[in-house]
Amino acid sequence: MNQTTVNGIQMSYGDEGRGTALVLVHGFPLSRKAWGRQAGLPGCRVITPDLAGFGQSDARSGRVTMDQFADDVHALLVGFQSGPVILAGHSMGGYIALAFARKYPALLRGLVLVGTKAGPDTPEGAAGRRATADKVKAGGVGVVTAVMAPKMLAGGTGDPALVAAVLGMMAGATPEGVIGALLGMAERPDSTPWLATLTKPVLVVTGANDVLIPAAESEKLAAALPQATLRVIPEAGHLVAWEQPAAFNEALTGWVAGLAA
Ligand code: MLT
Repeated sequence: MNQTTVNGIQMSYGDEGRGTALVLVHGFPLSRKAWGRQAGLPGCRVITPDLAGFGQSDARSGRVTMDQFADDVHALLVGFQSGPVILAGHSMGGYIALAFARKYPALLRGLVLVGTKAGPDTPEGAAGRRATADKVKAGGVGVVTAVMAPKMLAGGTGDPALVAAVLGMMAGATPEGVIGALLGMAERPDSTPWLATLTKPVLVVTGANDVLIPAAESEKLAAALPQATLRVIPEAGHLVAWEQPAAFNEALTGWVAGLAA
């Protein structure tokens, strides 16, 4: 585990391998452990931050916008002096990756959007997030993790060992982190109108059986992007990179190799 100070907080991150810089941003309420099956990708330097308030990184107080999370990832990369990177974001990590692409295009070589979408919350969805934030204040992060862990998987609740593994990826989530991200996601802007202006290459990946952000969202995303490749991975849910690592890693490394060619 590595640690550094970014924008006033201690951020933990993984940094393994050599080659093309590939930054993997986890979803909510996960941690960099969600990318445990992407370690050792051939020809890649794999950088996996724990977002503020998740995994082993310090929390911020109050609402944390997608722009703030993107600023933290940016500060980490500036510290590395890595040059332009391939940035992959899963779900909330995808909202953050889109914010990063808007704010820091010079540091971006390509984007990988995994199980995510460009649209904002509906008013009802945003209100639901605020209500959940209040429940977390009163009852702790288990209010969220117990509900979300089974929904991350294609098979749902079927296998307690798999659900326990996902809960392990959520173990470092703090109440401040969960509340801050819920309030930040509730306010995130609609990225849809901006997609047509994103001229970088994008790989869009989804699990065919994602129940949290259905595959149709990824199809919409890919259709709205000028330079997108869409991969729909069978027998995978929201946590596609962990559930089907061979197919996911093959899609990712194949696409990265195509960029380098
Ligand atoms: C995630 O996995 O990051 C969340 O499902 C995203 C969301 O709640 O919109």
